[in-house]
Amino acid sequence: MPSAPLHLIAHVFGRQHQSLNGAWRSIVDPYENGYYDYRYQPLAEPYGRNKKPESISDRIEYDFDQSPTLTVPGDWNSQRLELSLYEGTIWYKTSFVAQRSAERRRFLHFGAANYQAIVYVNGREVGQHVGGFTPFEFEITELITDGENVVIVKVDDARHRDGVPTVNTDWYNFGGLTRDVLVVDVPRTFIKDYFVQLEAGSLERVAGWVLLDGPHAAGQPITLAISDLGLKLELRTDAHGRAAFTSKVGTQDKPLVPWSCAEPRRYLVEISSPSDKVREAIGFRSIATRGADLLLNGQPIFLRGISIHEQAPERPGRATSVADARKLLGWAKELGCNFVRLAHYPHNEHMVRVAEEMGLLVWSEVPVYWTIQWENPQTFANAERQITEMVQRDKNRAAVILWSVSNETPITDARNRFLERLIRKVRELDPTRLLTAALERHYADEHTQVVDDPLGEHLDVLGVNQYVGWYDGLPAKADSIVWKIKYEKPLVFSELGGDAKAGLRGPAAQRWTEDFQADLYRHQLEMMKRIRVWRGLSPWILNDFQSPRRPLPKIQDGWNRKGLVSDKGEKKQAFGVLQGFYAELARDPSNSSSTKGT
Ligand code: GCU
Repeated sequence: MPSAPLHLIAHVFGRQHQSLNGAWRSIVDPYENGYYDYRYQPLAEPYGRNKKPESISDRIEYDFDQSPTLTVPGDWNSQRLELSLYEGTIWYKTSFVAQRSAERRRFLHFGAANYQAIVYVNGREVGQHVGGFTPFEFEITELITDGENVVIVKVDDARHRDGVPTVNTDWYNFGGLTRDVLVVDVPRTFIKDYFVQLEAGSLERVAGWVLLDGPHAAGQPITLAISDLGLKLELRTDAHGRAAFTSKVGTQDKPLVPWSCAEPRRYLVEISSPSDKVREAIGFRSIATRGADLLLNGQPIFLRGISIHEQAPERPGRATSVADARKLLGWAKELGCNFVRLAHYPHNEHMVRVAEEMGLLVWSEVPVYWTIQWENPQTFANAERQITEMVQRDKNRAAVILWSVSNETPITDARNRFLERLIRKVRELDPTRLLTAALERHYADEHTQVVDDPLGEHLDVLGVNQYVGWYDGLPAKADSIVWKIKYEKPLVFSELGGDAKAGLRGPAAQRWTEDFQADLYRHQLEMMKRIRVWRGLSPWILNDFQSPRRPLPKIQDGWNRKGLVSDKGEKKQAFGVLQGFYAELARDPSNSSSTKGT
């Protein structure tokens, strides 16, 4: 029996809410002693019960309130040295004060928890979630008690072969409650979710839906207004509490100004129902392809991009805050970008909203990375849920133009079937955006690279990762490379680059120096200009990031050094090379092509 379509509460930060961010008590539990008994059977009384001795002879072998704290949001690895390489279970505990109410409902919302979370409220398990980079929530209305309410979360970041991602990634497996935690407080019947965007390919019509949730959701009047565009729609919900709409938008004297990189204009959308009201600033833009062209608001655009990991700027650990987003995206703007690839998983909501504010287009991706278990139905269900949660959270974000279903996955029938199903799912959820993936390429001969991955057939935009000059020869090799692209579709080089230790200088031939990296970029840019369908790039990567796959002493020391900015915020030579190219392009987009060759 297909489960009810997933609906997360849209725009949680715009609702009445209580933040549970701060210091949470924590118990490190490598043997999951708080969840399983010695027969490895789930305990009747797990730590989630928050048991306290009730008499002097009582034996309770844990006590959250005597235990050290961890900051939420945040990964645990960068908070305590002994946890820097810890993978396993840590229990978190906090509490909040609330009053029961017949008129209100409460939801416990997590921006994300890496990787598996089991959540308890006042000793009762309220739900579980798998996947480290997408939001989830549970209704806790009936569990609320007047006064102190206790929240306990078992977070386990152990890696699993059947996981998404699987056991090997070139990024650090940061564990914990890595994003904001909120108690959302809404009326009994409330506006749970809505989708308000321009109809696919249109600059004149908005289309979407509003969903009420609660005892009085059916047959209800809904008003959707965008007063700055002279729009006011009177809708009525169906038996399921849903009201769909499509309408012309903008008037003679209030024409629509589409969201764009130069003018990231957003409009206040107000949705009201008999018992609830939500207001959100939303941008309206159209994104489409025409042959090899990418069209933003009907105009060809070239994506001047950079790839970004959710690595905190200038410190170890995960980026978590609006300030982190402003720092990272500020560097991207300084580079001259109009586009960012948020790799390899959905980043926190602050990143996407700040990108929208700054006029940066976004590529958002699920961690279907390298070689996951394509034939495993649980693995597919996991990936499908993650991509649904990603789309659900950001479907009203004008900045997000590309949903990516995978990165560098091996071409097999099972993989093709898996990814084609995922693509169909996304198109069902969101008909307004483009689908892409970071594809692999292969050599037809010594100088000819070919992009003919069968998945390309099902994508709107081709993402291609290539490391000519780093994993593949030396930088000058790019001068003799010819590209054969099977599809007449926009091509974005989603990764290219090489490592450089900030401050290490030397001849351009000396690997790991800034000079080598800068030289590599120069050769790469000339190579890409020769490709007729080339419409963008997001070099790997904005800033150095932590990875357990990078041990080289005095150079990497646990960091992938392909950043254009170091872990201390230093800009490397190649930053200037790319910045110069982007300035040229901003002046005259035709600078992206040298020969209109192959
Ligand atoms: C791969 C991969 C990245 C990785 C990069 C690298 O292409 O997609 O996740 O970090 O190459 O090797 O630096």
